[in-house]
Amino acid sequence: MGTEEQTETGGVATASETLTITDNRTGKTYEVPLEDGTIRATALRDIKVKESDFGVMSYDPAFMNTASCRSAVTYLDGEAGVLEYRGYPIEQLAEHSTYLEVAYLLVHGELPNAKQLEEWTNKITTHTFVHENVKSFIQGFRYDAHPMGMLLASVGALSTFYPDANQIKDPEIRYLQIIRLIAKMPTLAAFAYRHNMGQPYVYPDNELDYPGNFLSMLFKMSELKYEPDPRLSRALDILFILHADHEQNCSTSAVRAVGSSQVDPYSAVAAGVAALYGPLHGGANEQVLRMLRRIERKENIPDFIAGVKEGKERLMGFGHRVYKNHDPRATIIKKACDDVFEVTGVNPLLEIAIELEKIALEDEYFVKRKLYPNVDFYSGLIYEALHMPVGMFTVLFAIPRTSGWISQWLEMIDDKEQKIARPRQIYTGERNRDYIPVSQR
Ligand code: SDX
Repeated sequence: MGTEEQTETGGVATASETLTITDNRTGKTYEVPLEDGTIRATALRDIKVKESDFGVMSYDPAFMNTASCRSAVTYLDGEAGVLEYRGYPIEQLAEHSTYLEVAYLLVHGELPNAKQLEEWTNKITTHTFVHENVKSFIQGFRYDAHPMGMLLASVGALSTFYPDANQIKDPEIRYLQIIRLIAKMPTLAAFAYRHNMGQPYVYPDNELDYPGNFLSMLFKMSELKYEPDPRLSRALDILFILHADHEQNCSTSAVRAVGSSQVDPYSAVAAGVAALYGPLHGGANEQVLRMLRRIERKENIPDFIAGVKEGKERLMGFGHRVYKNHDPRATIIKKACDDVFEVTGVNPLLEIAIELEKIALEDEYFVKRKLYPNVDFYSGLIYEALHMPVGMFTVLFAIPRTSGWISQWLEMIDDKEQKIARPRQIYTGERNRDYIPVSQR
């Protein structure tokens, strides 16, 4: 191993760690430094046939093998099924922590002491209300509007209520928007739900904790004070912890890319909500429930699996771009199912889900493609047991992921290496065509 040296951007390069690239078109060789197991794509631009060439570019559709940033927020090991937030294993955080404490950890990089946690909790709690105009804004949607569409719109609309949020270089102003986003997401989500139900909106109850207040805004009716079942509240808090961040997934990459234009954080988070909405991403938890309902009985599983293997549809809640053995979150959620079903009674779809998982894990088609249950496979069963309508499932993903998105956004803003995201392309279209008048076409 050669001597290690720190690169100007904080990377680690070892003198002998280089790649020698030979351009067989010219016979020239190029020494390209390896930093943290990567090469800088811009280093390839030196590889040319003639001086006027643009130089070699890397091509990586869907960024299958491209690091877009350096990050210290979340560590994933897809082969080993390891997930750590700021170095803390997800299993320990799910067992010992709360979502608000995890949100503090993601944003600040360290677990809070008692005083910091109290201050953080008070700040979040006192920012849960939204401007009254948001209610009339949400009332403008059809009664059956998808809550993710309403959340997407209302998060973006918050940027119009806090115009100074575009001062993203001001640490104090930035911090206040982080507090507001984490505090107000449950309120916006609950208002969207109440709109769908045709029920009056319930204002935040600042005497309840984060998950309990959310349940109150969802389900409080004529009682003077909503009393959340502590077991259900805790189960929801664990789900929030598990969904808080997941390094450079599709929605986080969207937040970073949109945020790189230096837009306000509400607009950047709205881009994350939009990406999460997709059925291949956060929308999968909704699709899992619809899939289980369609299968309806265990006897129908073989035919359904056959259809998946013929490529007619995907086994929703299975597979992952990073995890190729197991998604540690799915293991924890599956256990949380037992705690919730103790209170609510077993969800009949659980039996189909367990049988589906068993059959899939033994089937060569899935084993060969390393397809295992992901975070979305079991979470929907808990949400349904908590009486959440299927349309709210992805909203329940977006609420906690807000702390991950905003932590990654903060890291991107302060990263000296980052600038506006602007990928290149391989142009495959026509060139130099003369305009033809419509009469001659
Ligand atoms: C999340 O990235 C993250 O971190 C995301 C997330 C987070 O916390 O942010 O973890 C949250 O989005 C979890 C994933 C939820 N999505 C689903 O459950 C939808 C179903 N899963 C897939 O569509 C798929 O597995 C993805 C999108 C999750 C991953 O897709 P990849 O890595 O692009 O894999 P691929 O589509 O190239 O599939 C590889 C092969 C293909 O078969 P072949 O063409 O090689 O024959 O596996 C097959 C796919 O057809 N395949 C599936 C499958 N997933 C992949 N076949 C059946 N069912 C599936 N679910």
